[in-house]
Amino acid sequence: MAVNLKGKSFLTLMDFEPKEIRYLLDLAHDLKQYKRTGTIHQVLKGKTIVLLFEKTSTRTRCAFEVAAMEEGAGVTFLDSKSSQMGKKESMEDTAKVLGRFFDGIEYRGYDQAVVEQLAKHSGVPVWNGLTDVDHPTQILADLLTIEEHIKKPLEEVKVVFSGDIRNNMSYAWMYGCAKMGMHYVAYGPDELAAQLDQEILKKVQEVAAETGATIEISSNPESLKGADVVYADVWASMGEEAEIPERVKLLTPFKVTTELMESTENPACLFMHCLPAFHDFETTMAKEQMALGYDIREVTDEVFKSKNSVVFDEAENRMHTIKAVLVATIG
Ligand code: CP
Ligand code: NVA
Repeated sequence: MAVNLKGKSFLTLMDFEPKEIRYLLDLAHDLKQYKRTGTIHQVLKGKTIVLLFEKTSTRTRCAFEVAAMEEGAGVTFLDSKSSQMGKKESMEDTAKVLGRFFDGIEYRGYDQAVVEQLAKHSGVPVWNGLTDVDHPTQILADLLTIEEHIKKPLEEVKVVFSGDIRNNMSYAWMYGCAKMGMHYVAYGPDELAAQLDQEILKKVQEVAAETGATIEISSNPESLKGADVVYADVWASMGEEAEIPERVKLLTPFKVTTELMESTENPACLFMHCLPAFHDFETTMAKEQMALGYDIREVTDEVFKSKNSVVFDEAENRMHTIKAVLVATIG
């Protein structure tokens, strides 16, 4: 049966069949090509979308805005400071109001239950722009980037995520790899592995059994061998800044260095990162933390700037993949 995602929300990849994810990736490849060739598409003409941000963003906000504008849609941005959302008006009421105005709603915030609530009460598609436990649009961009750089099927690709294996990106990768039949290793300290949600792991393993994926949690450096991708993310996600001292202690051995990249024994192994990244001291946060004695760099500048690093291709692909999600769901 043909894939039809019209009217469907994009809350987590766990809600999608592998062929639906395949469809979104193929659409993103096509839309990227249209942009390259200057082909006018504009299938969202006359539509309006709203972007709700309770956490900060550069890429996700810009990707939604540019994707929508290039397809002809109007965009409104709201954050918690400049709107009634959450403080003076419940998410349920906010959803009911916004559903009357807009054709779709993007939400970035803390609790996954909020995107679910927005989807339940708004009556329009809701897109997850990151929560504490997921970041599905980032995975679409990452899969597109992998397909552009690694000339083998996704089912043969091994991704090793090194660092805070209990964060939103690590869970999002588990979902993406399980659905697409890939090999995922969450490589991090046992102390953080112990914090992983066992119910979620069980569900992920059930999907993996169906698709032929391998999902591993490991603190053993041997698990880096044969990786096609080493993936990093910040050690303390937005809202977790108080955890920095503990995380630096736990995660320094998992910092992505040239030595770590070499231990994959794959000279073509890609370095990927959702960004923003701490790879030098050119940010106020990295400087402030270093002054307190904490080196929060999750990757060395050498790896970040190496020829195997495709981090800015990933950033660009946020736009093409988010455009695919918009076109597929409200186009
Ligand atoms: N990768 C990502 O989501 O970036 P932003 O936080 O800048 O949106
Ligand atoms: N884990 C990071 C991802 C940022 C895109 C965070 O939530 O801050």
